[in-house]
Amino acid sequence: MVLRALTSFWPKGQEGPIDAVAMLVRVCFVCLGNICRSPTAEATMRRLLELEQLTAQVDIDSAGTGGWHVGEPPDPRATASAKRRGIELAGRARTVETKDFGRFDYLIAMDRANQRDLLRIAPDDVAKAKIVLFRNYDPDSPRDADVPDPYYGEGDGFETVLDICEAASHGLLRHIRESHRL
Ligand code: 4NP
Repeated sequence: MVLRALTSFWPKGQEGPIDAVAMLVRVCFVCLGNICRSPTAEATMRRLLELEQLTAQVDIDSAGTGGWHVGEPPDPRATASAKRRGIELAGRARTVETKDFGRFDYLIAMDRANQRDLLRIAPDDVAKAKIVLFRNYDPDSPRDADVPDPYYGEGDGFETVLDICEAASHGLLRHIRESHRL
């Protein structure tokens, strides 16, 4: 977290003008293609941050471990499902890079394959410690559960992804609030 160490000794509420800078927490959601699950997680979390007026304190992005869809907008099925809930997907697909471990405080994997791929490219133990499974922030989810990949699936896979992202985003926000005094 940017400049966090500099301000950690100040009492809460008395941090002064540096506080807005000091409280920037950076989160990157990661899936395989960066066109279905991670843009959905990013948009769900962004809406929650907007509702909580925390967009200036928490910076979010998303990326994929695979490069097949680089430069493409989110999958139209994901976009349509999200839109029905008032959630707007945005951005263009990109691949996750080693330098993202320096840019972000959390790299949040949608499934265990993404987690393994991230662990493989993490440059050191500090970077490895930034990798977490998204659903582990949801206290009602089984431990180490995946956000199921909806890309090749039939039926309501995109609705399921949204349900999961909404539940896990609430847990992630709770974690960030507690860990970073927001
Ligand atoms: P995502 O879904 O990882 O949630 O973006 C996928 C998108 C594309 C592919 C697989 C999963 N694909 O194989 O092209």
